[in-house]
Amino acid sequence: MSAYDARLRDLKAFDNTKAGVKGLVDAGATAVPRIFHHPPDPTPVASAGAIPVIDLACADRDQVVARVRAAAGSVGFFQVVNHGVPVRAMEETLAAVRRFHEQPAAAKREAYTRDPGRKVRFNSNFDLFESPAANWRDTLFVQAAPDPPRPEELPAAVRGVLLEYAELARRLAVSVLELLSSALELERGRLGEMGCADGVSVVSNYYPPCPEPDLTVGTSRHSDPAFLTVLLQDGMGGLQALLELEDEGDGRRRWVDVPPVAGALVVNVGDLLQLVSNGRLRSVEHRVVANRSREAARVSVAAFCNVDLGCETSRSDRLYGPIAELTSDSGDPPLYRSITVAEFLAHYDGKGLDGRPALHHFRLPATLP
Ligand code: OGA
Ligand code: NI
Repeated sequence: MSAYDARLRDLKAFDNTKAGVKGLVDAGATAVPRIFHHPPDPTPVASAGAIPVIDLACADRDQVVARVRAAAGSVGFFQVVNHGVPVRAMEETLAAVRRFHEQPAAAKREAYTRDPGRKVRFNSNFDLFESPAANWRDTLFVQAAPDPPRPEELPAAVRGVLLEYAELARRLAVSVLELLSSALELERGRLGEMGCADGVSVVSNYYPPCPEPDLTVGTSRHSDPAFLTVLLQDGMGGLQALLELEDEGDGRRRWVDVPPVAGALVVNVGDLLQLVSNGRLRSVEHRVVANRSREAARVSVAAFCNVDLGCETSRSDRLYGPIAELTSDSGDPPLYRSITVAEFLAHYDGKGLDGRPALHHFRLPATLP
């Protein structure tokens, strides 16, 4: 049997358990199976952080806009406090996601699917069969807005919590998009009116303890297939952004921690916002290291804000390219061609998390001065 066939056989066997990585850990795995092995990453890890924390309740809006502009235009990530999402809702959401993943495998099995037509999908590694190496992570995916699943379609463990959180995260995204519009010197409502937060997909990740954390990762290096991401993480840590730090001065990129900050939410720019801002806002690659804890699992909930992806709406035919006011014939030629969000997602999902930025595919050839 070829190595390729052996790998495919192992992937199928793992997928058929419908129990995910949690199932392997519960079965007492003391080694990481080969399908999860990643080549070593020689990228250095930074010693100090660089991710700003921004107080959204600050009375001086211009100052908030300036901070958001500085962060979104360089490191692409920031954390927000006084963001309007009640801490209780954040805690309940993390607890509900943990409850879902920690049910007996038999209770989760019926939700296990890769069918893109389902609004609620539990699986391990959305790109299991596309990407070169699997991640030590299970996920519950919910297409939460604008047409949420019926309550009975949701697993009982997250019912009454997750869709409510999705709406809170969406409202926060709308206000962050206002700040970002101002940061780009556009009308405050501009990005929101483009539909950048009409749709919300909630991706609830569960990172079980990993017996050999140096051999695999929690989430492979990637940038987000959305306009904006609002991320809720528990206190475990493990998320890192790939940044060039000025103080290091050697021009190399390093992995920089996005540390848990009590009560804060992480916001990051997605690929589509980099595209429409013509590169002024940066969609920065990030990853999650494998969980080194011996017993505690890590939980995170990413709310991906995007256009309404329902196929029956005309929105899915709409073209998105660099905003006209942000390009000019002289200094700022458009860097990307105009695309539909569906076209972008088809490219992103088709290649899996293979370490190559999805946006490169849509770049226009360099224009000569
Ligand atoms: C993602 C992601 C980070 C995390 O789901 O795109 O980057 O901390 N998640 O789980
Ligand atoms: Ni991400």
